[in-house]
Amino acid sequence: MSGSPLHFLDLGDAGANAMAAMISDAIDRKAARAGSPKGEADNDAPLAGRVLALVFEKNSTRTRVSFDIAMRQLGGTVLILEAGSSQLGRGESIADTARVLSRMVDAIMLRTDDHAKIEEMARHATVPVINGLTDRSHPCQIVADLLTVIEHGKALPGLELAWFGDGNNVLHSVLEAAGLMKFNVRVATPPGFEPDPEFVELARAGGARVTLTNSAKEGASDADVLVTDTWISMGQDDADEKRRAMEPFQVNESLMGMAKSNALFLHCLPAHVGEEVSEGVFESAQSVVFDEAENRIHAQKSVLLWCFGKLG
Ligand code: CP
Ligand code: NVA
Repeated sequence: MSGSPLHFLDLGDAGANAMAAMISDAIDRKAARAGSPKGEADNDAPLAGRVLALVFEKNSTRTRVSFDIAMRQLGGTVLILEAGSSQLGRGESIADTARVLSRMVDAIMLRTDDHAKIEEMARHATVPVINGLTDRSHPCQIVADLLTVIEHGKALPGLELAWFGDGNNVLHSVLEAAGLMKFNVRVATPPGFEPDPEFVELARAGGARVTLTNSAKEGASDADVLVTDTWISMGQDDADEKRRAMEPFQVNESLMGMAKSNALFLHCLPAHVGEEVSEGVFESAQSVVFDEAENRIHAQKSVLLWCFGKLG
């Protein structure tokens, strides 16, 4: 690849036009291959011969499987490195790992804790680096989430999305997307669990209306989409105090009843049914969480194509 690699560390690296192109391409590719065996390549196999390294310093099911299947469908292949079984887990530097992998593969996806590590990876890699989740953000998830919302008939401009619970990495990427794609976000968290103000400002600077509230009811009222996530993210302390603070923010039938009658429920998964979401909501017709999970494949394909300069 010539020139600077196209890294996807956060949604802003791509920008609004590329985000729109990613969603639109995902819709087209998904439709074009409907009914095909899941591991069969798309007709154009645009990433034939390309190799993606998936590097994990944290657990994953969806991100790992969706990137693998996405690469197969684009005609490429993946290899997986777990921190515990690679030299990364024995202290080899991110910088050296980036330089070695850049000689051997065509792109790197990293799931890690400290966001500074993925920035370090991107600084030293000469191939695209993709954020597969850090403590700060989870941009790939949000491409799939927006694709899901659109597939279910909702336009993004003016959409009222409500977030409940912890002001975490997934919410940060929701907020970044809101500024880019012009939808509004109500953030209902207990005091002290608000998102990083930097992401709230980013959303507002992009023209999104962001409401911060400590009332779940205020968040839910007339919302189009209700979203939550685990109360305790990977790497966080599982504190009783935090769980107690989160309890009023469970997305349950009562909260869904305050939203629009055709509101959708989203969750990036894995879910803790009975904690951040009631079983009734999780299993309801309004819950589109398994469409959302499947859409990780289609979203990842778009992210990969963008990184390889084949989109928008
Ligand atoms: N939503 C998500 O990223 O799931 P995994 O942790 O299973 O990859
Ligand atoms: N906020 C969660 C998302 C998991 C996909 C975590 O970081 O553990």
